[in-house]
Amino acid sequence: MLEAVNLSKSFYYGLFQRNKNDAVKNVSFKIKKGETLCLLGESGCGKTTAGMMIAGLIKPTSGMVLYRKENIFKYRPKELKKFRTRLQIIFQDPDTVLNPRWIIEKSLSEPLRIHGLANGKESRDRIMELIETVGLSHEHLNRYPFELSGGQLQRIILARALLLKPDFIVADEPTSSLDVSVQAQILTIFKELQKKFQLSCLFITHDLHVARCIADRIAVMYKGTMLEEGNAEDIFSNPVHPYTRGLLDSLIIPDPEAVHPLDSNIPITSDRNYTGCKYKELCDYREQICEEKEPVLKK
Ligand SMILES: Nc1ncnc2c1ncn2[C@@H]1O[C@H](COP(=O)(O)OP(=O)(O)O)[C@@H](O)[C@H]1O
Ligand SMILES: [Mg+2]
Repeated sequence: MLEAVNLSKSFYYGLFQRNKNDAVKNVSFKIKKGETLCLLGESGCGKTTAGMMIAGLIKPTSGMVLYRKENIFKYRPKELKKFRTRLQIIFQDPDTVLNPRWIIEKSLSEPLRIHGLANGKESRDRIMELIETVGLSHEHLNRYPFELSGGQLQRIILARALLLKPDFIVADEPTSSLDVSVQAQILTIFKELQKKFQLSCLFITHDLHVARCIADRIAVMYKGTMLEEGNAEDIFSNPVHPYTRGLLDSLIIPDPEAVHPLDSNIPITSDRNYTGCKYKELCDYREQICEEKEPVLKK
């Protein structure tokens, strides 16, 4: 369905744009129909940047995004418009997405109208059906965003994404701003709908529990690179990369005061002269070669 091929994105900043930040470097993965790939990694490792490239919202510095085998950055305007309905994005903060001055129904009917997909009764029927599918009722449609809770808003946003009948969803930490019990409800609905509509999904999260709940496959990212990718069960039962092992170990530290094994003053590695593995400073398995070469992914 969708494939990232050696995706890289560098941001340039500072005086004369002299500084370079390799936000994403050489990331490749494939997502099949109906499958959820989780991009997992701590804040700042490049997940959102990767997601934005997949969604066609930022151009990669190098590499390609293939949707149904076609490079999305070579689309003509008409193809791009179609792609914009096929692929929907859900962001972290539900309260920044909807127009605060519109009742929910208008926020839901506008995308249908703009894309010329439905209006009038057909539009209303589709909205009613979806609003129930996400566990809300018609009564919510006449409210303004501020009259709904965070969890309800995220349901609305999910409904809005599904209205256009996409086959691919990019969800960037969609539940991170919700408290844990609401988070679980939303994830359950998300999973149900994903199965029901056979959606493919790139699901971005920093939260292992969320990844475990939602992912078919997991790609672990660290400082812009992908360290490990595989079936979710395999990653959880038999993590190969020391970083992933560290992440999983940190899951079962019951003492909130305990030092997180991965929290330390991690040096910034974006400078040009950095060589070797990005994880070497923290790795228990460090060898001479780690200083010299960045490891490549192996089967
Ligand atoms: N528009 C931008 N301009 C410059 N740097 C950026 C921009 N967007 C992201 N970055 C940098 O790229 C890196 C990855 O960011 P991001 O993709 O947001 O990570 P994550 O979503 O995993 O937290 C960070 O170092 C961030 O500061
Ligand atoms: Mg992010």
